Amino acid sequence: MKRVFLILLVLFCLIAFGVNMASANGGPHGGFTPMTDACAGCHRAHTATNPNLLMVNTDDLCMSCHGATGSGANTNVDDGLYLSSRDDGAGDFDEGAANTPDNAPLLGGGFVNYQGTAVTSVHSIDGSETLAWGNGVNRGELGALAEGMTCASCHDPHGSSNYRIINEMVNGVAITVAQVDEANKDYDTEQWGAGTSDLCAACHGAYHRTAANQGSTLDAGTYTHRVDMPYSYHGNDNPETVGYAGYHLPLAETNTVVCMTCHLPHGSSAAMTGITDGAGLPGETSATDSALLRLDNRGICEVCHQK
Ligand code: HEC
Ligand code: HEC
Ligand code: HEC
Ligand code: HEC
Ligand code: HEC
Ligand code: HEC
Repeated sequence: MKRVFLILLVLFCLIAFGVNMASANGGPHGGFTPMTDACAGCHRAHTATNPNLLMVNTDDLCMSCHGATGSGANTNVDDGLYLSSRDDGAGDFDEGAANTPDNAPLLGGGFVNYQGTAVTSVHSIDGSETLAWGNGVNRGELGALAEGMTCASCHDPHGSSNYRIINEMVNGVAITVAQVDEANKDYDTEQWGAGTSDLCAACHGAYHRTAANQGSTLDAGTYTHRVDMPYSYHGNDNPETVGYAGYHLPLAETNTVVCMTCHLPHGSSAAMTGITDGAGLPGETSATDSALLRLDNRGICEVCHQK
C-alpha cells in the first residue's frame, strides 16, 4: 500500500510540475510552465554566488550535467560523446536517444577529448577569453568581445528559436539559425539549415566573405577562402557524399560550404605536423594547435579539391 502511494505521488509530481515534459528545445532548456520550478535549478534570488544570480559559474553549471562526470544529460561535451543512459530515470529527457547511437561522437567536437584523443584546440568557455579573431578588426587580428566567452555566449540555457538553442543575440549581433531536427533530435548526423555561418560571423565578422576574391576590396591587400557558396568548383566532388580517400566533410542545406564544414565549434583533436605544426599562424596557441579544424594538417583542402 505504501509503495503504491509512493508511485502515485511520483506520478502526481511528474504531471503537476511537468518534470518529464521534454521541450522541443531539449532538456531543461525552455518550454517552462507559468508555475515552473526549473529556475531554481540554476538561479537563487538572494543567495547566488555568481553574476546573473547563478549558484555556480556558467561553465561549471553546464558541465554539472554535460561534463564527463555529469549525469543530467546524455551529451557529454567534455569527451564529445553521446552516452545514451546518463539521464535515464525520473525526469528523463532522452532527446536523441532513439536516433543517436550510444557512444557516438557528438557533432560539436569535444572540450577535453574527441574521438578518443586529447583535443589540440578548443573555444574557451571559462569566461576568461575576451578577444576574438577578426571581431571588428582585420582577419589575423584580435578584437574585444562584448563579454568573456562561456557556453552561454553561443547557447541560451532558456531555449531559443534557433537550432541547438543557439542565442538569438551573439556578441551584440542578432542571428537566425534554422531549426532542422527539433522533432527527432540526432546528435550524430549533420543536417544544418540556413544561417549556420552567421553564428561564427557574429564574433569573427572579417572571416565571413561570401563572394569570390572579396578580400581584395574589403580587407585591403588580403584574400580569404569564400564561404556560404555551393561546393562545386572546377568539378569538385561532393565532399559530404563522395569525399576523398574515405574522408568526408559536412555541408549545409545539401550543397553549401559553411564555416563548420572545415571547423568544429567546441574542440578538435586533429594533429598538426610539418608546416602546420608551430607555423605561427594567427589563432595558434601552441605548436600543435589545430585551429578547430576537422582533419589532420590540411586534409580538409584535399577532400574538396583533390589536387
Ligand atoms: C539550465 C540552467 C538555467 C535555468 C534552468 C534557468 N536559467 Fe536563467 N540563466 C542561466 C544562465 C547560465 C544565465 C546567464 C546567461 C549569460 O551569461 O548570458 C541566465 C540568465 C538569466 C537572466 C538574465 C539574462 C537574460 O536572459 O535575461 C534571467 C532574467 C534569467 N536567467 C531568468 C531565468 C528564469 C526566470 C528561469 C526559469 C523560468 C531561468 N532563468 C532558468 C541558466 C539558467
Ligand atoms: C562557439 C560557440 C559555442 C560554444 C562556446 C559552445 N557551443 Fe555547444 N554547440 C555549438 C554549435 C554550433 C553546436 C551544433 C553542432 C552541430 O550540430 O554540428 C553545438 C552543439 C552543442 C550540443 C549538442 C551536442 C553536440 O555536440 O552537437 C550541446 C549539448 C552543447 N553544444 C553544449 C555546450 C556546452 C555545455 C558548452 C560549454 C561547455 C558549449 N556548448 C559551448 C556552439 C557552441
Ligand atoms: C540539469 C541538467 C542540465 C544543465 C544544468 C544544463 N543542461 Fe543542457 N541539456 C540537458 C539535457 C537533459 C539535454 C537534452 C539532451 C541530452 O540528454 O544531453 C540538454 C540539451 C542541451 C543542448 C542541446 C539542445 C538541442 O537543441 O538539442 C544544448 C546546446 C545545451 N543543453 C546547452 C547547455 C548549456 C550551455 C548549459 C549551461 C548554461 C546547460 N546546457 C546546462 C541538461 C542540462
Ligand atoms: C562568442 C564569440 C565567438 C563565436 C560565436 C565563435 N567564436 Fe571562434 N573564437 C572566439 C574566441 C574568443 C577565440 C579565441 C580563442 C579562444 O577561444 O580561446 C576564437 C577562436 C577561434 C578559432 C581559432 C582557434 C585556435 O585554437 O586556433 C577558430 C578556428 C574559430 N574561433 C572558429 C569559429 C567558428 C567556426 C565559429 C562558429 C561555429 C566560431 N568560431 C564562433 C570567439 C567566438
Ligand atoms: C575551406 C575551409 C575553411 C572554411 C570554410 C573556413 N575556415 Fe577558418 N580556417 C581554415 C584553416 C585551414 C585555418 C588555419 C589557418 C590558415 O590556414 O589560414 C583557419 C583558421 C581560422 C581562424 C583562426 C585565425 C586564423 O586566421 O588562423 C578563425 C578565427 C577562423 N578560421 C574562422 C572561420 C570562420 C568564422 C569561418 C566562416 C565564416 C571559417 N573560418 C571558414 C579553413 C576554413
Ligand atoms: C568544402 C569544400 C572546400 C574545402 C574544404 C576547401 N575548398 Fe577551396 N574552394 C572550394 C570552392 C567551392 C571554391 C570556389 C569558390 C568560388 O566560387 O569562388 C574554392 C576556391 C578555392 C581557391 C580559389 C580561390 C579564388 O579566390 O579564386 C583556392 C586557391 C582554394 N579554394 C584553396 C583551398 C585550400 C588551400 C583549402 C584548404 C585550406 C580549401 N580550398 C578547402 C571548396 C572547398
